[in-house]
Amino acid sequence: MTAGHDDRHCAAPSPSALMEAEVLTNTEVAAGLWRLRLGMPQWSRSEPSPGQFVMVRVSDDGDPLLGRPFGIAGFWLHGPTAEMEIIFRVVGKGTGFMTRWSSGSPVRLLGPLGNGFPLPPLGSRCILVAGGVGLPPLLALARSLESGGRGGDVLLLYGEANRDRMLDLDTLPDLGVRFATCTEDGSCGREGLVTDLLAAAEIGEDSLVYACGPAPMMRAVHERVSGRCLDSFYSLESRMACGFGVCAGCAVEVREGDEWTYVRVCSEGPVFSGDLLTERSFRQA
Ligand SMILES: Cc1cc2nc3c(=O)[nH]c(=O)nc-3n(C[C@H](O)[C@H](O)[C@H](O)COP(=O)(O)OP(=O)(O)OC[C@H]3O[C@@H](n4cnc5c(N)ncnc54)[C@H](O)[C@@H]3O)c2cc1C
Ligand code: FES
Repeated sequence: MTAGHDDRHCAAPSPSALMEAEVLTNTEVAAGLWRLRLGMPQWSRSEPSPGQFVMVRVSDDGDPLLGRPFGIAGFWLHGPTAEMEIIFRVVGKGTGFMTRWSSGSPVRLLGPLGNGFPLPPLGSRCILVAGGVGLPPLLALARSLESGGRGGDVLLLYGEANRDRMLDLDTLPDLGVRFATCTEDGSCGREGLVTDLLAAAEIGEDSLVYACGPAPMMRAVHERVSGRCLDSFYSLESRMACGFGVCAGCAVEVREGDEWTYVRVCSEGPVFSGDLLTERSFRQA
């Protein structure tokens, strides 16, 4: 894993080269939500850390020109062959193109990029708060903690608008952590927002909170848990052009002591400690 618990800027690794992958499966698992499994033969890099992402080139003819960022939801090595899972929601042209991929389609992607989530210290309890497609990087974190024997320390909270849009977590046999779900209309799990689930969870000085989802959700999580837990970490979203620190298009404002400064979500993030973030950071994300 990349960063220790005390790291505040969660320094990112240098940008990695373009990877050639092939679609293994690409399945619509809920309304507008797709689970894409990619195979990469002769994997020679280190394993991605939970919270890292990839820039996926969605078209070879330059339209759309820019890659699209997606959190890594799962990663497995089968001998020299790597398998990577991406879970994406269709929101526009690029993700629309991605639904046309089928088994055997070639895909090019850049990564793994960004810093990833700092691992929790031994003896701490982890609360993972996922809103919508904030889920994928937290699935990677849950799987990693579970495979490291820490699954019992983890509670995953997952909220969506309604049942149709929701990934059924029972279809992920390797998840191995406790979870609770909610929907805004009450069609699956508890009725309400994921922050309502968080309000019902036990947060103490031994708790670490990890959040990913829409900016208003993360702002609400930050307000609720700041000063009440050991630490909290937020995977921010920002519009990205390059994905590895060159264009500065993804910058958000953070606070270091009394100073305001800008950080690039792609290279210094996407994961930031709650200590650095204020309402302004979430507004820009
Ligand atoms: C680090 C990171 C990780 C991400 N991981 C995932 C993931 O695991 N699964 C997933 O489904 N999505 C994820 N996203 C969001 C995903 O990158 C966008 O949904 C995708 O780029 C949209 O591409 P498009 O061409 O379909 O849409 P576009 O045509 O580019 O845009 C369609 C609409 O979506 C909005 N939009 C696009 N990108 C973003 C963004 N980054 N933030 C806010 N609004 C946006 C646009 O403003 C527009 O309204 C992630 C984004 C980041 C920055
Ligand atoms: S997307 Fe270019 S610097 Fe972050």
